[in-house]
Amino acid sequence: MNFQSDVRGLVGTKKIEVTDDSNNVIGYLQILSDSDSEDMELIEKFSNWRNKYMSCFFTSFISTNERTKKWIMDHVLKDENKVLLKILNKKSELVGHIGAIDRKDYIEYDNLIRAGEINIPNFTYFVTTTFMRWLFSISDVDFILGKCISSNLKGITLHKRTGFKIYNEVPLRKIIEPNGDIKWVEDINYPNPEFYSVEIRLYRKEFMEQVNIKNNYAEYFAEKCKKNIDNMASDEAILKKTNDWICLTSKYKYTYNFKWLGRTIIQFPQDMIAMQEIIWEAKPDLIIETGIAHGGSLIFYASMLELLGGDGQVLGIDIDIRKHNRVEIEKHPMFKRITMIQGSSIDNGIAQQVYDFARDRKQVLVVLDSNHTHKHVLRELQLYSPLVTKGSYLVVFDTVIEDMPEDFFPDRPWGKGDNPKTALWEFLKTNNRFEIDKEIENKLLITVAPDGYLKCIKD
Ligand SMILES: C[S@@+](CC[C@H](N)C(=O)[O-])C[C@H]1O[C@@H](n2cnc3c(N)ncnc32)[C@H](O)[C@@H]1O
Repeated sequence: MNFQSDVRGLVGTKKIEVTDDSNNVIGYLQILSDSDSEDMELIEKFSNWRNKYMSCFFTSFISTNERTKKWIMDHVLKDENKVLLKILNKKSELVGHIGAIDRKDYIEYDNLIRAGEINIPNFTYFVTTTFMRWLFSISDVDFILGKCISSNLKGITLHKRTGFKIYNEVPLRKIIEPNGDIKWVEDINYPNPEFYSVEIRLYRKEFMEQVNIKNNYAEYFAEKCKKNIDNMASDEAILKKTNDWICLTSKYKYTYNFKWLGRTIIQFPQDMIAMQEIIWEAKPDLIIETGIAHGGSLIFYASMLELLGGDGQVLGIDIDIRKHNRVEIEKHPMFKRITMIQGSSIDNGIAQQVYDFARDRKQVLVVLDSNHTHKHVLRELQLYSPLVTKGSYLVVFDTVIEDMPEDFFPDRPWGKGDNPKTALWEFLKTNNRFEIDKEIENKLLITVAPDGYLKCIKD
């Protein structure tokens, strides 16, 4: 985790609500940003508070505005492992700060100062609880560690209430620096110490049980991934390089290079990962694909259904099932879930056979990967889209043809302006059951199906 770019980038200037036991918002936490280092009022407050609560810190010095500003700029904002949040009251007035350091295996919590009058009982307790909950939500550490000077009984009591437990006590030795600053350093062999460094720890599991909330790190992780995907998808340089890469590798028929369980699958591996995610989410009990070729995709879908358990079936349609392909597909262990129909996918008689096969199936996924002309795909969309069930997908492969240069397919009946993408655009003008799932292509980047992942959103 990188507090400065990752966490600050994600949270931005958003305020984290501090809530009490009844879920009333009683204040806010807000990550310190670059503009705060120019806020003289804030710097002055931080500086005064540091002087006022000097005895709670392991270093004692006379804080000045210059020193505080330098600390904010050089030690807080520039250090990617550190974060400092302002504590604000309900009127968004500054009443303290609270910070943390990412130590990789755990998070060290530090720099809590709560100053000024607040007429809300237990305000600091709710602030620390909110902060701990937030730290656990943005990280996957097992515990948060803090260190207090043993004289700071108020602080230790507060943390015990939050759920921290005392873990260790180490004698402190006083060091006076040449410039007069005082430092308290841990020294296990120091005899008759005046004070101790009290190590307190808050464990995730216990804390989550105590505050009775779910562990929402998964949500945070998903949000973080989504933000990265959105940023990546609007990065023109990556998009251009991706398109160039697809054009350049196409010359060498890159998509022919891969097999699934022994059978050639004419796809980008990225698209097959997307299909796996779709199958897991939609849990179809029937997958229909037009265009079989070597059978790799049929076997891929069948093996996904095998992993799901249940009685899921795959139906493939191809105008020309070559004998050598049919033999290999039929002797494959996954053939037990596969049925093949030979004929044109836009032939009404073939479509009728597909409908007969799909009868009684509850969740249906359709994949179009046969002839790639506009006319053909549009007819397939009209014929087979009604079979797709809500929550499932209608996947139209090779829409990427539209994004390739004009003369890219000289020996094919399809090309720019006449391909699966133009067909689905026309189809979507009059059909409101489907919407393009941009998220899939945005994360794949390398895909033969830009705009081609259509999610069925209506019965
Ligand atoms: C791109 S390949 C299919 C690749 C396969 N889905 C995979 O992922 O490995 C296209 C297939 O569509 C078939 N095809 C062409 N026109 C067709 C039509 N009118 N109806 C059904 N299949 C057709 C071809 O015979 C060819 O096997």
